[in-house]
Amino acid sequence: MGNVQNNLSNQELSPLKSLDEWEEDILLRYPDPETITKGKETDEYRNYEDPQRDTVREFYRLNHTYQTYDFVKTKREDYLRFNKKKMPVWSAFDFLNQLVDDSDPDTDLDQFQHLLQTSEAIRADGHPDWMVLAGLMHDMGKVLCLFGEPQWAVVGDTFPVGCAYTDKIVYPEFFSENPDSKDARYNTQYGVYKPNCGLDNVLLSWGHDEYVYQMMKEYLPEPALYMLRYHSFYSQHRENGYDHLMSERDHEMFTWVKLFNPYDLYSKNPTPPDWNQLKGYYEALVKKYLPEELLF
Ligand SMILES: [Fe+2]
Ligand SMILES: [Fe+2]
Repeated sequence: MGNVQNNLSNQELSPLKSLDEWEEDILLRYPDPETITKGKETDEYRNYEDPQRDTVREFYRLNHTYQTYDFVKTKREDYLRFNKKKMPVWSAFDFLNQLVDDSDPDTDLDQFQHLLQTSEAIRADGHPDWMVLAGLMHDMGKVLCLFGEPQWAVVGDTFPVGCAYTDKIVYPEFFSENPDSKDARYNTQYGVYKPNCGLDNVLLSWGHDEYVYQMMKEYLPEPALYMLRYHSFYSQHRENGYDHLMSERDHEMFTWVKLFNPYDLYSKNPTPPDWNQLKGYYEALVKKYLPEELLF
């Protein structure tokens, strides 16, 4: 069933005008606390009448319907062989930037700018250099779109498959359309897992987080790997909906995931950083931790 997307229309492959629409929707759910305290009108964000919300809804309907346990396994078997492409790190950023937003080219930043703004915000707060690098790399997995994956198999809040869904996941009602919700192997609280078995033993819905984690796992320290792997797992890092699967280690490491999240969500700025001034620092950083070429 992994090739479900072969039978889908373009509308079902790409319900969003751009991947950014998903992130803009997360900002509606989790607005920047600093912006709120500064008294900026939250109405600016909370425009629930926006037609974009309908496309995001449709995006989640597809995501919750098609991300089954089998779908995730099939995607892992395919992508985790890393036999698709080999690129020097800096060419990989150019490749990622081919993901352009056709809806609003003037106001939206390209993927690299978002990565750089995230890493620069982390650096400005004096965090370790491997966290800066995690900021720079965290969305590299979005290249999955360029390999033909549907948007709902690249972005979207991630959630465990193979066990019951919590209602802490956005639009939980759409899970009734997922065949796993009627499968006795998968629809109990623990499903195929054991209590507090640790997230490393749990499959999450397939997307850019797991892909970039697997790409980077030999090169970065454990807290950075948690940031990469779980940065879209909002139903846990914001809502604690899966404490019953978390190990002690996961809880410790999620302090890092929680530390990372605001840099991802709230660092967007219409003025791009001056790359020419930053280039030297980032070239040295990449060289320190990463190999010459990355496998995709
Ligand atoms: Fe992301
Ligand atoms: Fe991001």
